[in-house]
Amino acid sequence: MKTYVLFSYLFCLMIQSCASTERKFYQHESRQRQTFEATGENAMVATAHPLASRAALKVLKRGGNAIDAAICASFVLAVVRPQSTGIGGGGFLLYHQPSTQKTTVLDFREEAPRKSYANMYVSADGKAIPFLYKDQTLANASLNGHLSAGVPGLVAGLVKSHQRFGKLKFKDLVQPAIDLARDGFKVYPSLARAIEKRKNVLMTFSESRKIFLPRNKPLQTGDTLKQKDLAKSLQLIAENGQKVFYHGSIASAIVSEFKEYGIMEKEDLSSYKVKERSAITSSYKGYKIKSMPPPSSGGIHIAQILNILENDDLHSSGHNSFQSIHLIVEAMRRAYYDRSKYLGDPEFTSVPRTGLLSKKYARSLRNSFHSSRATPSTSLGKLSPLNYESESTTHISIVDQWGQAVSSTQTINYLFGSGVVVKGTGILMNNEMDDFSISPGKPNVYGLIGGAANAIAPKKRMLSSMSPTMVFDSENRLLLVTGAPGGSRIITAIVQMILNIIEYKMTLRDAVHSFRFHHQYMPDTIFYEKDSLQSSTIKKLQTLGYDTKISTRYLGDIQAIQRDFKNQLWLGVSDTRSDGKALGF
Ligand code: GLY
Repeated sequence: MKTYVLFSYLFCLMIQSCASTERKFYQHESRQRQTFEATGENAMVATAHPLASRAALKVLKRGGNAIDAAICASFVLAVVRPQSTGIGGGGFLLYHQPSTQKTTVLDFREEAPRKSYANMYVSADGKAIPFLYKDQTLANASLNGHLSAGVPGLVAGLVKSHQRFGKLKFKDLVQPAIDLARDGFKVYPSLARAIEKRKNVLMTFSESRKIFLPRNKPLQTGDTLKQKDLAKSLQLIAENGQKVFYHGSIASAIVSEFKEYGIMEKEDLSSYKVKERSAITSSYKGYKIKSMPPPSSGGIHIAQILNILENDDLHSSGHNSFQSIHLIVEAMRRAYYDRSKYLGDPEFTSVPRTGLLSKKYARSLRNSFHSSRATPSTSLGKLSPLNYESESTTHISIVDQWGQAVSSTQTINYLFGSGVVVKGTGILMNNEMDDFSISPGKPNVYGLIGGAANAIAPKKRMLSSMSPTMVFDSENRLLLVTGAPGGSRIITAIVQMILNIIEYKMTLRDAVHSFRFHHQYMPDTIFYEKDSLQSSTIKKLQTLGYDTKISTRYLGDIQAIQRDFKNQLWLGVSDTRSDGKALGF
């Protein structure tokens, strides 16, 4: 009887909810600006900073291709978004050429130094070890200080992209970044907030303090940030390519910086290589999706979540209705469970790729949903792909006049990475080592847990969620170029954006800006953006057994480009959750 009453109640709730489809969109302060949207007959760029978008647009107008523009934007972002990316970091890049239909995938992710080992960040009693520096102690050595840095890959990745596909002179592509580092730019609100947030770590290291806290005070909005040492390093890279960074004077500076407090050595840098990989290709209701393979988890889990949902009619359930959220969250939960268990650097762990991407496995996961209640995350693990065998960070989306496209996500991991600037170079080193599973069940800075597949090992690349992605229509024409920062929240942001376009038929602007939610298996909670979901929707989700919380972080900051086939235009949108800009011509 009790079951019958519960079902009747839920059925009534469902009917009511169908009638009130959620149509609220993100209300950020900068949403007043009208600069996040652009159209272009020839080309389009969307990046996380107007200075990077402008520099890249100039390259495109000068006849440069999407790779040239991406290189230029990457170096500029390395200067103007030091909280998110930099030449002390790494990233991934997808390059699509319509003439051959080939999508090249470059992996320039950071790598664990050869002296690293599993459990290096935990003490014998299982506690996170602090980083000891001179007379100072910083909590969490995997996040703060020299030990948290992986071997950087960004410079090698950009040089390799240029060698393979570049058209204009490399030196000219680095020049805008050199100028901005030398002459400075105005600190904007989110950069000032990031410095304030990480001031304790930045204060610890004198080179970082000099740049971001001159006179021992965090730079404020409107101050000018000049990075003269970084300008010199960029000049050296512009003139000598990657040699100077991995073998020459910059390599020597890095090695001497890490000698006393870190484990990175000359051979770590000199043996670093960019890896070419094959895109994860999947389909959703007739559309083709290409995204990043391991060591990113992005491509596999975007595909897996969409595969699980493919036979549902989310459109009828309504955008952000409790029925849609129930289905999408259950798919996210199962994908992130598999992420914690099976994903890692494919050269060190066997990722059951075919199983994870199998539509049959996705159907079995879909069949494990309860129609009227949440599945507790602790109860997962009964199904296995093996039976089926197979604020930080920044994103750049670019399409050039030949329809060639770049989708690249780059990072130094958490805000200002390790906090360590290499003496005399202005180079802020990443803290990507925290993306490894530090010990089984111990969450990283994004709350993600992992196991043996993502344990630390020398020269292994840490698992990522970065998901540079492209979507093609049924005629194989490029429809979308997209990606976002946001750590673990990248995958769910991109899934929702794709669903917004394909299922909910939104414009690009609405698809990027509409409210998002996030579930990552553990913690077993739906995080949703403030003032987003209707209180009735939240109550209904709680009735189904979901724990719900307002997210204190942005759920991704999307940079997206869409083809308007009818009007033969490129549309660009930069998410107003942050400071970016889309520009076309
Ligand atoms: N550092 C965040 C990521 O790669 O997912």
